[in-house]
Amino acid sequence: MDAPLSAHIEAAVARERRRIAHDLHDGIGQMLATIRLRADHAGILLADGHADAGAQLLDLIKTTVSGTVAELRRICWCFCPAEMTGGDVAGAIVRLVDTFGDCHPTFHVTSRIKVNSRQIPDAVVVAAYRILQEALHNVSKHSGANRVRVEVFGSRHSMSVRVKDDGRGFDTARGIRAAMATNSSYGLAGMYERAALTGGNISIYSGPTDGTILSAKWPLATAAGRGATKS
Ligand SMILES: Nc1ncnc2c1ncn2[C@@H]1O[C@H](COP(=O)(O)OP(=O)(O)OP(=O)(O)O)[C@@H](O)[C@H]1O
Ligand SMILES: [Mg+2]
Repeated sequence: MDAPLSAHIEAAVARERRRIAHDLHDGIGQMLATIRLRADHAGILLADGHADAGAQLLDLIKTTVSGTVAELRRICWCFCPAEMTGGDVAGAIVRLVDTFGDCHPTFHVTSRIKVNSRQIPDAVVVAAYRILQEALHNVSKHSGANRVRVEVFGSRHSMSVRVKDDGRGFDTARGIRAAMATNSSYGLAGMYERAALTGGNISIYSGPTDGTILSAKWPLATAAGRGATKS
């Protein structure tokens, strides 16, 4: 095998490994976190004698476990989120935001979601979904916010995801540098890489009094956007 071809294959293998790592972290990782939260909540309900509500939540946990198994299979076989089956991207995103709201009743969550999935490359859709998933997870873990606003738009010209919280914010330059330099936090680094691999870019605005705005954009009319076809 000549040198340029083997270098090309090595780069492709490394890229694919990173994608699998992202899918495990952002997909399975977040679903397991949801199961954990629901299990905690079910425990509290049952301990307080709310047997019916506890049983209902246990049913929901069973459904989420089944979803996690399906997602794992999907990652193993075609590296595509199970929620996307059938191309109902807008529906999958609405479900993701609804589940987030259900699991975090202390947040006031509002959203506007308008996606025409047929006109957007699969790789961009999957990246947008995963970035949204990790952004929401970060809001729940780090922000201490009261209000969360989610906006997702997609057409054949562009795709965008915006998550705004009114929480404590963070020093973005330091947070991003630390995330890139250590193996302890993977979320932000993964978002940047996912966006870059699919022709998009990420901006984060954050400050102690302003909360955080995470914005991901894919200008699909560009050559990079056109290049990001099937995942
Ligand atoms: N919405 C947010 N509000 C406040 N701080 C945030 C927010 N999003 C990210 N951060 C800060 O940026 C840091 C890096 O985030 P990142 O997602 O890379 O890692 P993590 O969430 O700590 O770990 P992991 O995603 O690997 O489970 C966080 O530890 C947190 O300090
Ligand atoms: Mg994170």
